[in-house]
Amino acid sequence: MQEKHYPCPAFPHFIHGADYNPEQWIHDKSIWDKDMELMREANCNEMSVGIFSWSMLEPREGEYDFSFLDEIIEKIHQNGGKVILATPSGARPHWMADKYPEVLRVDSFGRRAGFGGRHNHCFTSPVYREKVRQMNMRLAQRYGKHPAVIAWHISNEYSGDCRCEYCKNAFRDFLRAKFDDNIDNLNRAYWTTFWSHTYDSFDQIDPPGPGAETGIHGLNLDWHRFVTHQTMDFIENEVAPIREYSPDLPVTINMMFEFYELNYHKVADVIDIASWDSYPEWHNGDDADIAQKTAFWHDLYRCLKQKPFLLMESTPSGVNWKPYNKPKRPRLDVLSSLQAVAHGSDSVQYFQWRKSRGSSEKFHGAVVGHDGTSDTRVFKSVQRTGGILKEIDEIAGTMTDAKAAVIFDWENMWALDDCQGYANAGKKYFETCYAYHKQFWQRGIDCDVISPAADLSKYKIVVAPMLYLADDGVIDNLSAFVEKGGTLYATYMLGTVDENDLCRLGGIPGGKLKQVFGLMAEEIDVLYPAEVQHAEFDGNIYEIVDYTEVLRLASAEPMAIYADEWYAKTPCVTVNRYGKGKAIYQACRDRGELATAVFDKVLEEIGLTSLLLDPLPHGVTAHSRTDGEHLYLFVENYSRENLAVVLKAPMYNLVTGQTEQTLALGHYGFGIYRSID
Ligand code: GLA
Ligand code: ZN
Repeated sequence: MQEKHYPCPAFPHFIHGADYNPEQWIHDKSIWDKDMELMREANCNEMSVGIFSWSMLEPREGEYDFSFLDEIIEKIHQNGGKVILATPSGARPHWMADKYPEVLRVDSFGRRAGFGGRHNHCFTSPVYREKVRQMNMRLAQRYGKHPAVIAWHISNEYSGDCRCEYCKNAFRDFLRAKFDDNIDNLNRAYWTTFWSHTYDSFDQIDPPGPGAETGIHGLNLDWHRFVTHQTMDFIENEVAPIREYSPDLPVTINMMFEFYELNYHKVADVIDIASWDSYPEWHNGDDADIAQKTAFWHDLYRCLKQKPFLLMESTPSGVNWKPYNKPKRPRLDVLSSLQAVAHGSDSVQYFQWRKSRGSSEKFHGAVVGHDGTSDTRVFKSVQRTGGILKEIDEIAGTMTDAKAAVIFDWENMWALDDCQGYANAGKKYFETCYAYHKQFWQRGIDCDVISPAADLSKYKIVVAPMLYLADDGVIDNLSAFVEKGGTLYATYMLGTVDENDLCRLGGIPGGKLKQVFGLMAEEIDVLYPAEVQHAEFDGNIYEIVDYTEVLRLASAEPMAIYADEWYAKTPCVTVNRYGKGKAIYQACRDRGELATAVFDKVLEEIGLTSLLLDPLPHGVTAHSRTDGEHLYLFVENYSRENLAVVLKAPMYNLVTGQTEQTLALGHYGFGIYRSID
């Protein structure tokens, strides 16, 4: 048996809890006592506290008062619960902004924000960093070895940037380091002779944005990189005292869905465990599609550390910040929580435990509503989820052993969206990555979502959708994967630009990838939104949209051909043998059916099969975890139909205690199994 990888080794179990803001109820501590009772009743074993507590913990500068936290942590402990303790830097007290305006952000027009909101500090300000360090040191000294505390939740949902003088200077230093303090290097990399934008010195460089430079793509890309770098630097400053005084506890930051601003593949280096806040828009369309997109992010967060992650927040019903705040339907509430676990989460946590009485989140879903009781549908669903997590606790700490991966890259997304060309109305990078991930989801095949620089050696197939930016290292990584026997499936635009967003000379796919795929893309046709063209594959016709590259084949062989336009009968899907592997190129965007047909063939060839007996009914998927000895299988039904599926072999149902091979899945139903030796 493999060693288990518990995200919080001090608590080797599934975590079931919530963001808890007891400071909002400090005027009536009978609520705290009631909370303890309800937590036990809800099968909750953890609370995340202190996230927005700074003004309680340091009401006046240098006057620390931890009595509230002492009391609540002790209460949770006495109640048998665990605590994930936050650092409070996500929002700061009024006195700090009044005395030190530099803690507030400056926008691209040079305007400093007033006090208010949250997640809006300057990430360079020496004062803010010092205040945070002082606070975190005291928290770590006081609670770093408390038996109830199992992990650190650093700040809250890091995001955004600042363009104050400190940040500008830090950006210039970042560029000096990158370009060996040589402005000519920067000018060459940024192609600044274009429009006479040559820089004479690093001191002339301002962060890009409205009111300043926006047309230098290399600069825009480096600003994104700097924001990631500076946020990581800020996190390291937060974490340093915690590592010193609480060295045994892991640190995490709560990350987000479709998050654009930070390259989480890099940020992962400064945290111990990945965690994220998942708020899909359930029931707005086909729940199977929504589940699959959510699955993409679960898979991505698992792969950040290639270890079980934490679902840090989710709503037990609805949220308050979408255009329409619909609660989750009965049964989907439980299923959506277990979905995270199916993909490798060792927790189900909610925002929030008790619904706020005032301010903007007073109607956000919560385990305990304004009625204050356990006699609600939502509370009972949470209680049921907690009960199931207890039944399946042996799965905690187990891993996912995926043989397929889809590449997703933030730098690529930034460069693609910045480029003026193709369809300026939107490149649809997220959607394209989701579409290829769906090839595995709809078949019930585990899939990782990884960075292009990841170790690819464990995969049979890797998909690189719209990988427009590829640095030399990525090109080598992909080429070596094929050479050693892997199957690489890539699409239009592959390797068009290098790490400075300069077009690679010699054509597309960039560099050595031309040999790997055995072709060159000579032109790309951009289709208007209403235009639909067709491709022919194995005698069938499929719809294609948005992009059609016109290929010139060298060693590649055609698999599918275009059926329309001046490039009719020329190849649109090709395969090339390279080294011991195969490189498949899809030169056009389709609506899913063409890719499905091609994947049917490719997956059969490489022997990658579903966890269930296929074909799976629409809305049904399957995922697995393993401790190296047992296979744990999760079957999920996101449709509103009652369906039945057949397992490949009889398995032990951990929830019902029965051994079965045919699973009757009610609508939004699930099954959780252990293999039988
Ligand atoms: C985020 C935040 C929480 C809360 C929720 C509401 O995830 O971290 O503090 O505001 O959104 O959905
Ligand atoms: Zn700043």
